[in-house]
Amino acid sequence: MFFYPALRSLLFYFDAEVAHRITINFLKTYQIKNNISHPSLSCNIFGLNFANPVGLAAGFDKNSEVPNNIINLGFGFSEVGTVTPLPQSGNSKPRVFRLKNENAIINRLGFNNEGFEVVKERLCKRENNIIGINIGANKNSKDFINDYIKGIKFFSSTASYLTINISSPNTPGLRDLQSIDSFGSLLDKIDQLKKNSPEISLPILIKISPDINHNDLESLCEKVLSSSIDGLIISNTTISRHSVSSGEKGGLSGEPLFDISTRKLNKVYRYTEGKIPLIGVGGVDSAEKAYKKIKNGASLIQLYTGLVYKGPKLINEINKGLIEFIKKDGFKNISEAVGAEVN
Ligand SMILES: Cc1cc2nc3c(=O)[nH]c(=O)nc-3n(C[C@H](O)[C@H](O)[C@H](O)COP(=O)(O)O)c2cc1C
Repeated sequence: MFFYPALRSLLFYFDAEVAHRITINFLKTYQIKNNISHPSLSCNIFGLNFANPVGLAAGFDKNSEVPNNIINLGFGFSEVGTVTPLPQSGNSKPRVFRLKNENAIINRLGFNNEGFEVVKERLCKRENNIIGINIGANKNSKDFINDYIKGIKFFSSTASYLTINISSPNTPGLRDLQSIDSFGSLLDKIDQLKKNSPEISLPILIKISPDINHNDLESLCEKVLSSSIDGLIISNTTISRHSVSSGEKGGLSGEPLFDISTRKLNKVYRYTEGKIPLIGVGGVDSAEKAYKKIKNGASLIQLYTGLVYKGPKLINEINKGLIEFIKKDGFKNISEAVGAEVN
């Protein structure tokens, strides 16, 4: 992928969403084989065998247009979505902004997607790769929790795992599901569903915001531990604006999110006592940062914005770097490094 700097200049000439569409169409047309495998990278998490711990975060392949080609780029897994029960067009454009000096993006897309039916039909044709489905609620839904329950039922035989996304800042009221009472009701409904439907046996994860305060975070973790939830993803984008000049509204991702999300990851690992697997997301754009997430409690990592700024060569760069870090620290496998920096 030696040509990415030139390609990036061309892509950055276009509006961010147009550039994204060009990229998806490119991936639909061309297969890039970049896979890397090494015994120290393979891991079994949630009962799934990952060839490597580096995944594509939700939001890139929202409608599952290129799941197989994404894995071919070298990712160990990919998360499609966010998908809502009904298709919706999202917020008005422009709604994605590059902050080039900060290696960051602000987006306020608002769950633009083609809906459950279309995505399921596409996913049925995927190869045997690990593909998670990130589910959300329709903006005009009268009952957000019910939309998630619908999603679990609808995709339980299609996805490798499901992510309940209650942390997008771009659907009004959605993040309120992270308040203790609503969070409790959501978990109770999921527990009930799983109890009454033994055929729903896939891992169910919850993706949380980096903006949750520490006290609430501790209570949420307690609730998760006493529920049937299998793991947490930390984190979605932030509405905070530390060291960022742009005044655009929406969720901030990329470099400025790294420290905030890694600190939260560390806390969640402590509060959950390492009892459930965590996926670390936010600002990963190097092997060093990926390893830092792992040492702060992540069993797997995901990225999105780093891919926009550094291109697909980043995926192999991270995996190769991880092999070196694991060796240097005297570990045989990546799983031994998980939480190594958490006191
Ligand atoms: C343009 C864009 C769209 C996104 N859409 C979604 C989404 O639909 N669902 C979701 O859970 N996260 C979404 N995210 C958040 C990412 O999955 C990820 O949590 C966040 O960007 C932090 O990772 P990063 O710094 O590597 O980008 C989106 C991020 C970006 C930049």
